[in-house]
Amino acid sequence: MSHQVTIQPSGHQFTVQDGETVLEAALREDFALPYGCRNGACGACKGKVLEGEVDYGAHQPATLPKDDKAKGLALFCTAKPKTDLIIEVKEIGAAKDIPVKTLPCRVEKMEKLAADVMAVWLKLPASERLQFLPGQYIDFLLKDGKRRSFSLANAPEEDQLLELHIRHVPGGLFTDQVFGGMKAKDILRIKGPQGSFFLRESDKPILFLAGGTGFAPIKSILGHVFHHGIDREMVLYWGAKTLADLYLPAPPSQWQQEHENFSFIPVLSEPLPADHWPGRTGLVHQAVLADIADLSGWQVYACGAPAMIEAAKHDFLVRGLPEDEFFSDAFSFQ
Ligand SMILES: Cc1cc2nc3c(=O)[nH]c(=O)nc-3n(C[C@H](O)[C@H](O)[C@H](O)COP(=O)(O)OP(=O)(O)OC[C@H]3O[C@@H](n4cnc5c(N)ncnc54)[C@H](O)[C@@H]3O)c2cc1C
Ligand code: FES
Repeated sequence: MSHQVTIQPSGHQFTVQDGETVLEAALREDFALPYGCRNGACGACKGKVLEGEVDYGAHQPATLPKDDKAKGLALFCTAKPKTDLIIEVKEIGAAKDIPVKTLPCRVEKMEKLAADVMAVWLKLPASERLQFLPGQYIDFLLKDGKRRSFSLANAPEEDQLLELHIRHVPGGLFTDQVFGGMKAKDILRIKGPQGSFFLRESDKPILFLAGGTGFAPIKSILGHVFHHGIDREMVLYWGAKTLADLYLPAPPSQWQQEHENFSFIPVLSEPLPADHWPGRTGLVHQAVLADIADLSGWQVYACGAPAMIEAAKHDFLVRGLPEDEFFSDAFSFQ
């Protein structure tokens, strides 16, 4: 039997289906309740039941002691409603509301997507999940306090593994290791989530601009958008040098077939004769300028090399884009 849950103080409401926990149902209906491990161990999802009754579910006794239960507290990652509920919990409204964690992780698998792009999937310890907003990134913590940043490419709704798209910088301390000796089961340390490159609420059409592995955080955002059926008009311009550098064309091509509100425009800057490329050529942000004369009604999310971001921002503002509607993550380096 399903139950209605009302969140205080926001007044948001959602329905918990039979067998679901409060947290599972909230996330399914796109309400960002805080969480960490999702299995009753960390306490990040703890909140108050103001009215109604829950089955507390399996959890670590130390995480929810009897005292807490007496005060009406519950762990929403394990609690299942027995009745309709009114709960008190602070919803995540912005990146600052999400705790930044330092965690060990294991390389689960690796796949070369292009000569210089490696997809790496990371597994966190069984008791941990990384809550993040789609578009955010993590830092690898290396020896001597060095850090290297990489964007999360999976949507938060598919967080069993963390997916990264890592471009090889020849001679680079970390990426030489990724393309050299790194293998499944290697242990690394990460810190995250980081950054403010995430989707803002609005009715405006969205222009996504990706250069190379700048596709990674946009893949995360789009995965989230389609998961929740967000129906804003969206177009993705993805720039790469050659056809082989467009390293993961299947998902955006498929999204374009499946979603009327989404279109995908790949742009190659240096196509090879062997590519027989029938599509758009040149610099990716210039393809946008050729297509859209007036950007005043748009919201832009741009990700990739710093020079691309800088040029795009300058030229898009000239075309009327309000400065506060340009969101970007420049892949700068140490
Ligand atoms: C917020 C953020 C998110 C990022 N997300 C991604 C991502 O999802 N995928 C991805 O592939 N990269 C991403 N980057 C870029 C990535 O962090 C760097 O390329 C990486 O740190 C290089 O590490 P390295 O140790 O191999 O190179 P280093 O040892 O740091 O550098 C070796 C040499 O290469 C130069 N260099 C380093 N990186 C670059 C670069 N990107 N372009 C040109 N020259 C470079 C350095 O100046 C130095 O001369 C991101 C950067 C930021 C800031
Ligand atoms: S998310 Fe860790 S206890 Fe619920």
